[in-house]
Amino acid sequence: MTLPRLYVNIDHVATVRQARRADEPVPLEAAQAAMAGGADGITVHLREDRRHIQDADVIAIAASLSAPLNFELALSDDIVALACRLAPFQATLVPERREEVTTEGGLRVSSRDARLRTGIRRLEEAGCRVSLFIDPVLDIIDAAKDLGVPAVELHTGVYAHRWREGRTALDQLREAAAHAADLGLAVHAGHGLSYDNVQPVAAVPGIEELNIGHSIVSRALFEGMEAAVRRMRSIMSNARHAAPSPVPFPGTPPTLT
Ligand code: PXP
Repeated sequence: MTLPRLYVNIDHVATVRQARRADEPVPLEAAQAAMAGGADGITVHLREDRRHIQDADVIAIAASLSAPLNFELALSDDIVALACRLAPFQATLVPERREEVTTEGGLRVSSRDARLRTGIRRLEEAGCRVSLFIDPVLDIIDAAKDLGVPAVELHTGVYAHRWREGRTALDQLREAAAHAADLGLAVHAGHGLSYDNVQPVAAVPGIEELNIGHSIVSRALFEGMEAAVRRMRSIMSNARHAAPSPVPFPGTPPTLT
């Protein structure tokens, strides 16, 4: 089985900086360290309220990073325009509500949504590979397919909250991933994945990319970014060498090398 790509989301490096409106830590440096630790790409989310990543960060990363950039964005005119100007490798459309702490649910996707269609078209014309961040629900995957995008990112938030309680959320993800892959969509996944819960998701057949932020940045505070990324990578590799396994026993530490 091939190993899913790991995109490291560095938003929360910017969160620390913005807490003091200071000039450190620098997200570009975090991105470089994540790549040195074995990431396949970098993810940034430029939120409408600019609570962490700033326009200047995205511009600097797009200009200086020789790695694939996955730019997460809501359908906000100025941000879509910036994405079109920078033309990152990938643009992932996400829903956004100002009052939320983090992206709480997937996009509401309808093939009749003219605004969404226009946003996708603008990004594709700029050269971006467009992915839609959606809940792992079959109808929603069908609607994403109807919109003609090449990829979807399955929201793993429910799994991340419930993985200790049993297999249901993992089974839902597996079914959704299989359905999306059958339709010819590239399947990405992310949100709330951590060193403790990533392994069963990394083992799901068909998932080819994981986006992980908070957990890696948290561990980087103690181990440094390179080591934190290397450790996540190692857990992901072990997942693909092992047979797809049931949800780990509660409290079982991940297998580390
Ligand atoms: N994928 C998407 C679309 C997201 O919005 C986020 C959070 O910004 C992530 C992945 C990463 O989530 P986490 O920080 O919980 O790993």
